[in-house]
Amino acid sequence: MNELRTPTDFPRVFAPRRARLAATMAAGAAIVPTAPERLRNRDAHYPYRYDSYFYYLSGFPEPEAVLVLLAGATPRSILFCRDKDLEREIWDGFRYGPAAACEVFGFDECFSITELDTRMPQLLADQPALYCHLGSDAGWDARVLGWVNAVRAQVRSGVAAPSAIHDLHRWLDDMRVVKDAHELAAMRRAAEISTAAHTRAMRAAKSAHNEYEIEAELLHEFRRGGAQAPAYTSIVAGGANSCVLHYVSNDAPLKQGDLLLIDAGCEFDGYAADITRTFPVSGRYSPAQRDVYEMVLAAQAAAIAATRPGARWNEPHDAAVRVLAQGMIDFGLCQGSLDKVIEAGDYRRFYMHRTGHWLGLDVHDAGEYKCNNEWRLLEPGMVLTAEPGCYIRPGEGVPAHFENIGIRIEDDVLVTPQGHEVLTAAAPKSVAAIEALMRG
Ligand code: GLY
Ligand code: MN
Ligand code: MN
Repeated sequence: MNELRTPTDFPRVFAPRRARLAATMAAGAAIVPTAPERLRNRDAHYPYRYDSYFYYLSGFPEPEAVLVLLAGATPRSILFCRDKDLEREIWDGFRYGPAAACEVFGFDECFSITELDTRMPQLLADQPALYCHLGSDAGWDARVLGWVNAVRAQVRSGVAAPSAIHDLHRWLDDMRVVKDAHELAAMRRAAEISTAAHTRAMRAAKSAHNEYEIEAELLHEFRRGGAQAPAYTSIVAGGANSCVLHYVSNDAPLKQGDLLLIDAGCEFDGYAADITRTFPVSGRYSPAQRDVYEMVLAAQAAAIAATRPGARWNEPHDAAVRVLAQGMIDFGLCQGSLDKVIEAGDYRRFYMHRTGHWLGLDVHDAGEYKCNNEWRLLEPGMVLTAEPGCYIRPGEGVPAHFENIGIRIEDDVLVTPQGHEVLTAAAPKSVAAIEALMRG
């Protein structure tokens, strides 16, 4: 247990989210399953990770669990979970069981997961609407529709079946996109551990010979800080690999003179950090590396400056693109006026992704980017990344000194009532700060 996740917190943190969802639904039943365990090979499993929607509403970490929320004048939340099993606990460790889960997590009722198929038709009887997510798992879809059909089969005895099915994720996405105090505390901790990991990686780079040595430094710092896992597979990309956007092999030799691009963040109590830093293996940027780096850093500063309440989602991206496109013209990588390079999209040869995404329980977090066909307005409590980059592969018209320079700089930005706060500012970022750290 850590300071952000004590048993007494569960009802206080998670029950209000269930109450909010029930109030928004007004009437009907929501069904939210957690993620299944997955086999990796033969009888070895992948590390277990709960479903983010399920966890958001419950805080319950075990597999084989389903949350049912009944809205109405007196909302009820019901958890189905694994039974206590002292024999299995000898092998696999603690499990709550329905009685303790009910008490610790503040559900109104808990039942054994083995009772799900018999109880669901009873719970859905006379519910006007069903809120669930269909379309991700055909087996789950069939099971849910089986419960609906079991209710329909009782119509002659006066029982009504739900007459509407709503996509629950749409409703939860709108809640998840604005973070509450508990979420922000977890995200600050994820940011703190992850910035320490990037700092450690910079210190280790000069004497490292392979990308995997640096990945090991990141993982060391994540676990040492109490993070449960990396939030996504770390990218540790030296030299030309820095131009591969989703490079994850992390097993190539590191060479003096090369840049090292690291995109890595940990997951703390379910919440992700997502940070990229790009620095020279040797500890000193070459003149060409420094020029491109300063351009990307200026683009990121423009994106962050454009992040404030009332701005539209696209404004940070558009601000970054203007700086990058102008830089590419100045470096001879793009030709023509700034407006032409932007309108024709010529800059995309070297900057082919967007400048950010929502961040939270998922590294690419829940939440719409457009509402009513307009880019969404930023609100206090939203967290997004600012991650412009420039990736220069060898090719026609590319001066030799720019070849294989891949740079991305990524920070996690909270929208505040006054503007913004960079949650990951502790990871060194200016050329001077990085070179000083690596010298030391
Ligand atoms: N690390 C994934 C991303 O930056 O979007
Ligand atoms: Mn990233
Ligand atoms: Mn990102």
